[in-house]
Amino acid sequence: MIGIIGAMESETATIIGSMEQAETQVISGVRFVRGNWCGKEVVVATAGVGKVFAALCAEAMILTYRPKCIINTGVAGALDPALGIMDVVVAEQVVQHDMDTSPLGDPVGMISGINRVELPADKKLSEALIKAAETVGAKAVCGVVASGDQFIAERQKKELIRSRFNASCCEMEGAAIGHVCYVNQVPFAILRAISDGASEDAIMDFQTFVQKAAKQSINILQQAIKSI
Ligand code: ADE
Repeated sequence: MIGIIGAMESETATIIGSMEQAETQVISGVRFVRGNWCGKEVVVATAGVGKVFAALCAEAMILTYRPKCIINTGVAGALDPALGIMDVVVAEQVVQHDMDTSPLGDPVGMISGINRVELPADKKLSEALIKAAETVGAKAVCGVVASGDQFIAERQKKELIRSRFNASCCEMEGAAIGHVCYVNQVPFAILRAISDGASEDAIMDFQTFVQKAAKQSINILQQAIKSI
């Protein structure tokens, strides 16, 4: 079984709507739908926004469904100036940009206990997603995905995250899913289509493009899932 997580309805509804033999279960307030999609056995969860919802969703998914891997689909704000709306980022690594024990002498982003800043996504899954993105004609890069419990809509904040972590995009769940998968030794991948530029225009752009970008990500996942 393949696990798929999206934060918002707009990031999962199209998948759930085209699943066969769908069965729903609610765990800790999160809706999990298991069934067949594109000939594959999947479980799709709509986690909610932010790292805590993402983490509890990933943990519940792993303990309940034992997926062979988890893929996070959704939208993101661009940090790399070369990326535009509808371009795609596949995580090479994930970081939690708001994890900060630097007053104690640690680097910003370091996860105490694991003692790492970046956590690596699964290479094979990520390659399949990049290939699928190219197949649908999307511009796609493999890079660092930075997650935090903040919607970034300020040039200064955006540039700080970019310069600290060399991140390609920012969003609010991927690194939490990566963290949970890492401690459970479950391979994971993060697929994000750009909905905005994470600076002052982000509020308008997000509202305008969130649906379209969410569909772009799902479309790529649909292409990739045949080979996963
Ligand atoms: N998801 C989409 N755009 C985002 C942004 N600008 N900041 C955080 N998460 C996002």
